Amino acid sequence: MVPPILRIEGVSVHFPVRKGVLQRQVAEVRAVENVTLSLHPGEAFGLVGESGCGKTTLARTVLRLVDATEGAIWFDGENITNLKGKSLSPYRKRVAAVFQDPFSSLNPRMKAGSIIAEVLTVHKYRGDVQARVIELMGLCGLSERFFDLYPHQMSGGQRQRIGIARALAVEPDLIVCDEAVSALDVSIQAQIINLLEDLRARLNLTYLFIGHDLSIVRHLCDRVAVMYLGRVMETADSEELFANPQHPYTRALIDAVPNPDPLSESLRDHKALKGEVPSPLDPPTGCVFHPRCPIAMEVCRKVVPTPQVLTPGHVAACHATISNPVN
Ligand SMILES: Nc1ncnc2c1ncn2[C@@H]1O[C@H](COP(=O)(O)OP(=O)(O)OP(=O)(O)O)[C@@H](O)[C@H]1O
Ligand SMILES: [Mg+2]
Repeated sequence: MVPPILRIEGVSVHFPVRKGVLQRQVAEVRAVENVTLSLHPGEAFGLVGESGCGKTTLARTVLRLVDATEGAIWFDGENITNLKGKSLSPYRKRVAAVFQDPFSSLNPRMKAGSIIAEVLTVHKYRGDVQARVIELMGLCGLSERFFDLYPHQMSGGQRQRIGIARALAVEPDLIVCDEAVSALDVSIQAQIINLLEDLRARLNLTYLFIGHDLSIVRHLCDRVAVMYLGRVMETADSEELFANPQHPYTRALIDAVPNPDPLSESLRDHKALKGEVPSPLDPPTGCVFHPRCPIAMEVCRKVVPTPQVLTPGHVAACHATISNPVN
């Protein structure tokens, strides 16, 4: 089997914060807790979960913008967890990011062409920079006319195309897309998803795609991991995960999606996700999902469930599922 291009191994990210009225108590936000995942070359890997479950923190750790508190990140066989300064630059050429809001991630004082050219210059591109910028814009469906436009002169979708062209400028193998289409109108979302799919096939890219719209993740991603309070609850091939979810949290997330078909809605066994996500400053003992879980058992309050392989490629961390898989 081909080795993974990205391996996240037992990664935890804890942020020290101050709390209490006088801000004197020191506490830890446990944003990511013991996450292990592998991404294979050329696949689109989805990361889903409610707000605050640690998706962006994990993405920023992969991008080496945040340090892992524990664990290791391997890229193409190299441990990049502790690389600093110059030793990070080869990695920075192989991994790029596309963020949610291109308006805030693009410099408003720079024209689109210069925004992309800047990346080429930083990475010491040896060829004709202007020609390469036009080529990158073309790959992203933008004509030369956009070269001299400022971000505010473009639509949201056009700005995100510039954000993608900028990510492609380093010729990356892996692109981290953190809510890359979430801020766009539905029709524009579809165009950008089509562009991402097209680029993946043409350039053999691997994606770590973070999204909260399950239908988009299902459509775009080959495999999906479901996170809750910093932990991965379930990982499976996309079709398998949505057709046969094993973790009660995954089932609740899928159930929480409004179904446009009223008949199937009325037939559905509704188990809406109740209650708030607990604070990562003081996560529940045992399985972090147990206070909201409809099938929690005594053991769930005490023991953190170990991820178990249920069928090849389908992994869940749930005491109940392991002893009694749902079919
Ligand atoms: N620099 C930081 N210092 C302290 N806490 C942080 C920091 N960055 C993130 N957090 C906390 O870590 C937790 C995870 O946040 P994160 O942004 O990774 O979640 P997310 O899954 O991306 O959420 P969303 O879907 O809203 O984007 C949250 O409780 C957040 O408040
Ligand atoms: Mg986020």
